[in-house]
Amino acid sequence: MARPGPGLKRELKRPYEVRADPARNFGDLDNNAHLGQTSRPFARAGVVASILVLNGPNLNLLGTREPAVYGRDTLADLERAVIGWGRALGLAVDCRQSNSELALIEAVHAAKAAGTSYIVINPGGFTHTSVALRDALAAVSIPFVEVHLSNVHARESFRRHSYFSDAATGVVCGFGLQGYRFALEAIAQRLGARPDAEEAEEIQTGI
Ligand code: DQA
Repeated sequence: MARPGPGLKRELKRPYEVRADPARNFGDLDNNAHLGQTSRPFARAGVVASILVLNGPNLNLLGTREPAVYGRDTLADLERAVIGWGRALGLAVDCRQSNSELALIEAVHAAKAAGTSYIVINPGGFTHTSVALRDALAAVSIPFVEVHLSNVHARESFRRHSYFSDAATGVVCGFGLQGYRFALEAIAQRLGARPDAEEAEEIQTGI
């Protein structure tokens, strides 16, 4: 396929610029700034798809929370990895985590206003309880992939039921952090996202 001309490149930058819009603020939820990273440079790599990676309750305790089940990586490790994988796949990833059902629902609502293309969600314990969070995803009609670090089917029986799975594009569980990568890869393929090689090199060299 022909490389985009300069005009098109300018066009491609525009979707990112809405990220400065207050609609991008997800209340008191974390954003990528606390990681010392933002998704901003990815837009220069021809990214056209914004992805929300939403983690639910108790996932802020990753690293110390039941490490035999969830591993030793922290939430910051997870979010850094996810942003990097997104960059390589041509996806601009925003990471959010909250312990509050209300904040997660509002993040889903805000994703609609922000033009988010896909959501990767690990609803944590809300997986097994929250009709309201499921309804939020249905209400905004943003396709989503459900991810769990642990293999929920090999644990207590109450974890085998999810309020999300039947509405999800797909479900990944049991692969730890890698599960998020699998989800992003599947999404990138579905969206046909491609990093612009020339501008990706520009980013790396800082030119
Ligand atoms: C989890 C599995 C849930 O059952 C649990 O409540 C979590 C984490 C996972 O990532 O494996 O909080 O979603």
